[in-house]
Amino acid sequence: MSKGIAIAVSGKGGVGKTFLSSMLVKKLSQHGSVLAIDADPDTNLPQALGVSVTKNVGESREAILNAPARSKVASAKQEYLELALHEAIEEFPQFDVLVMGRSEGEGCYCAVNHVIRQVLDSRGKGHDFTVIDCHAGLEHLSRRTTRDVDIMIIVADPTKNAMQSARRIVDLSRELRIDFGQMLVIANRVTPENRPQADRLAAENGLSIAVYIPFEPLVGQFDTQGRPVSQIPDDSPASQAIDEICRRILSYG
Ligand SMILES: Nc1ncnc2c1ncn2[C@@H]1O[C@H](COP(=O)(O)OP(=O)(O)OP(=O)(O)O)[C@@H](O)[C@H]1O
Ligand SMILES: [Mg+2]
Repeated sequence: MSKGIAIAVSGKGGVGKTFLSSMLVKKLSQHGSVLAIDADPDTNLPQALGVSVTKNVGESREAILNAPARSKVASAKQEYLELALHEAIEEFPQFDVLVMGRSEGEGCYCAVNHVIRQVLDSRGKGHDFTVIDCHAGLEHLSRRTTRDVDIMIIVADPTKNAMQSARRIVDLSRELRIDFGQMLVIANRVTPENRPQADRLAAENGLSIAVYIPFEPLVGQFDTQGRPVSQIPDDSPASQAIDEICRRILSYG
């Protein structure tokens, strides 16, 4: 593979972004090198992947900037960010993980956003796949953090709010003229009972659902027991639906 594929997983809070991201990381790692980016300041992708990560970009950056011997001139900022980025990547046998963490207090996420853009800019040199578990909401779009993503995955469950959020992501991308190579709307936690509602809400919001991930009680059980959700069995219908998303990713480009 000459150039890596960057995938972002977005959607309203609680729709299943982290579960799906972790499954994609695990499955794609069977096809090439993967960098998993946890871009949610409330970090939980490592737990979903079953790894423990001690570093994060926000803290590495602050440590670097606070070091007494370092110059704090603006021109050096970029260099420090790069350093922070490399220091914060943790390597595991199957994949690498980069946790963004928080930076510059709760409100300002600028440096972290910058780092993600930088990773995406240079991804050709690094991993075959980059999977970004986004913070809920639209900030990654308005700040153009995810502008260079190839495949934008928008997760929604069969609720009105989640489908409306999914539509806002599509609308805002158009407004900002962010042209993803592909956008995939994924319905999660689908049951035979709620599937008609998922279809109706998607249609009302002008969305077309690419893949339906069934409700899988094991995901909740694993979560409650503190077991990594990415370890649900391969023959689970939810895991098989995610295989279909992987096929789409593998056939991209
Ligand atoms: N297919 C599924 N079947 C059953 N439960 C699921 C499924 N997908 C996710 N869940 C459950 O839904 C909850 C939310 O999932 P997850 O944490 O992945 O969402 P999220 O979008 O990352 O949330 P946040 O916005 O808070 O980061 C979790 O308790 C998880 O166990
Ligand atoms: Mg999450």
